[in-house]
Amino acid sequence: MKILLIGASGTVGSAVATELAQRHDVVRIGRNSGDFQVDIADPASIRQLFEQVGRFDALVSAVGSVTFKALGEMADNDFILGLQNKLMGQVNLLLIGREFANDGASFTLTSGVLNRDPIRMGASAAMVNGALDAFVRAAAIELPRGLRINAVSPTVLEEAMGSYAPYFRGYKPVPAADVALAYAKSVEGLQTGQVFIVG
Ligand SMILES: NC(=O)c1ccc[n+]([C@@H]2O[C@H](COP(=O)([O-])OP(=O)(O)OC[C@H]3O[C@@H](n4cnc5c(N)ncnc54)[C@H](OP(=O)(O)O)[C@@H]3O)[C@@H](O)[C@H]2O)c1
Repeated sequence: MKILLIGASGTVGSAVATELAQRHDVVRIGRNSGDFQVDIADPASIRQLFEQVGRFDALVSAVGSVTFKALGEMADNDFILGLQNKLMGQVNLLLIGREFANDGASFTLTSGVLNRDPIRMGASAAMVNGALDAFVRAAAIELPRGLRINAVSPTVLEEAMGSYAPYFRGYKPVPAADVALAYAKSVEGLQTGQVFIVG
């Protein structure tokens, strides 16, 4: 399969690349790194990416930025990053990418634990994750041509605990390699409309 991996250099994405590159042609995509570059927050940049990379069999998105801030200090515009980047950036990968997807292609987006098990400063992350999980369930039933869409919702990764540990006290982190298996299930299996929870 030709697999487009957005966020390939990241903590999640590099583990997904290691897992999928054993069996597939993985095109590594990043904001500044990789074979191709894209800014998921900019629909014109997403379209330009697909015009460059051409048709594909699977797209994996392991990206998404949100604002982490105490709710008491948050105002309206503190939610914009999460909405434009992690939420609509990933939704637009489907809305634009479907034009370039081969029949039966899959889209795998990334949400995360915080809508299920919130932490302080995580209100925007929780909102966006919940929206992504809902979106894949609903979008899956309307996709034509055998197209599929799932989300992977990992808890915090062991490899991220160096910086994230103070925010995730009491959470049991999971190895990135275990998280990568959920992406393999989504890409290489047949399920659609699923949220694969890891951890
Ligand atoms: N880390 C965790 O423990 C964890 C747990 C649960 C969920 N998640 C979720 O998993 C996703 C990835 O997290 P991560 O920790 O792996 O991130 P990360 O290590 O910071 O890596 C981010 C990746 O995304 C790319 N990127 C950044 N901004 C982009 C943009 N605007 N357009 C396109 N690509 C962009 C980066 O490319 P460059 O390297 O080229 O800049 C990099 O490859 C996020 O949605 C996060 O919320 C992470």
